[in-house]
Amino acid sequence: MKGVVLTGGHGTRLRPLTHTGPKQLIPIANKPNVLYCIEDLRDAGITEIGIILGDNMPEKVREFLGDGTSFGVRFTYIDQGPPKGIAHAVGCARTFVGNDAFCVYLGDNLLKGGIRPMVEAFSRGDDAAGILLCPVPHPERFGVAEVDAQGNVVGLVEKPKAPKSDLALVGIYLLRPSIFPFIEALKPSWRNELEITEAIDHLRGAGRAVRAFRVTGWWKDTGRPEDILEANRLVLEELEPRNEGEVEPGAKVSGRVRIGKGTVVRKGSVIRGPAVIGEDCTIGPDASIGPYTAVGDHSQIIGADIEDSIVVGDSVIEAPGKIVGSLIGRHASILSADGRGRPGRVLIVGENSTAYL
Ligand code: G1P
Repeated sequence: MKGVVLTGGHGTRLRPLTHTGPKQLIPIANKPNVLYCIEDLRDAGITEIGIILGDNMPEKVREFLGDGTSFGVRFTYIDQGPPKGIAHAVGCARTFVGNDAFCVYLGDNLLKGGIRPMVEAFSRGDDAAGILLCPVPHPERFGVAEVDAQGNVVGLVEKPKAPKSDLALVGIYLLRPSIFPFIEALKPSWRNELEITEAIDHLRGAGRAVRAFRVTGWWKDTGRPEDILEANRLVLEELEPRNEGEVEPGAKVSGRVRIGKGTVVRKGSVIRGPAVIGEDCTIGPDASIGPYTAVGDHSQIIGADIEDSIVVGDSVIEAPGKIVGSLIGRHASILSADGRGRPGRVLIVGENSTAYL
């Protein structure tokens, strides 16, 4: 089986972070989202992976992923250009897929429990498609499946106004080349996209079996800042603690904490797990980090207090007051306004940024 990972989309709800790269590269517990997807595919034995590139700085995806050797897989890059829907992206992979079955994985999904069991079950059988489903409180925001007692999908609708079940399509699809004629026959939906949900429903309507699989752990679609923070919390909960840095006397580290190489935690600092600090960071003196906080490589956090947040990396944070529930992009500086000679807060905030003061 081959893999097809989607990295297009404009990530408008995640601006300004998506002004400098696709949302699939936003780090969750210091690892870009798309890498979790690639690891799931690899752990299911899928090592031939097509990466569908969109038009939002696709070079950043290539630069980060390379040829795949460092992740134990092999990538083929496929340009989608301007995004016209998931089915359009899948259609772009037709030559890459050839005659093989394939697993489509949306690169902004995060799943606990992996995909190995569903990939194995699908490979053993002869169903035309397999979809992964998860019960959600607001199914109308997703593709929704109706499933019979035997696990056969009996209906699929994209963002229905009156959902017939609470089972959302999580964005992991097992398909065969038999899907391509159904993709080619699609018309743009009300949101002007070619919907994979519709193509699979037409496949089903043509009498082919579509099998439902259920998420066994948890699933997060990381489309909004609050979803990214929740995903970060979920991943950090299961972090393997490891200290490859240096904790100076007078600093305290407790709970599940990972500290990367070259990082120094200075005196008077407290790190409460779960938390991850990347490489070559300076934490402190007198900083407080965590719980549920990820700090990316080459950051300096001095005398600041950060909880339940993501600092992407290469940042300087040296300001009084607690920072919570925050997403702080690369090369951001958050500094004290004291001593600048003018009373008040000084903000140099990029397009589409939000600050709560
Ligand atoms: C897409 C799919 C939808 C699926 C969702 C999962 O929605 O169209 O069926 O439930 O991904 O994240 P979109 O993110 O384009 O709104």
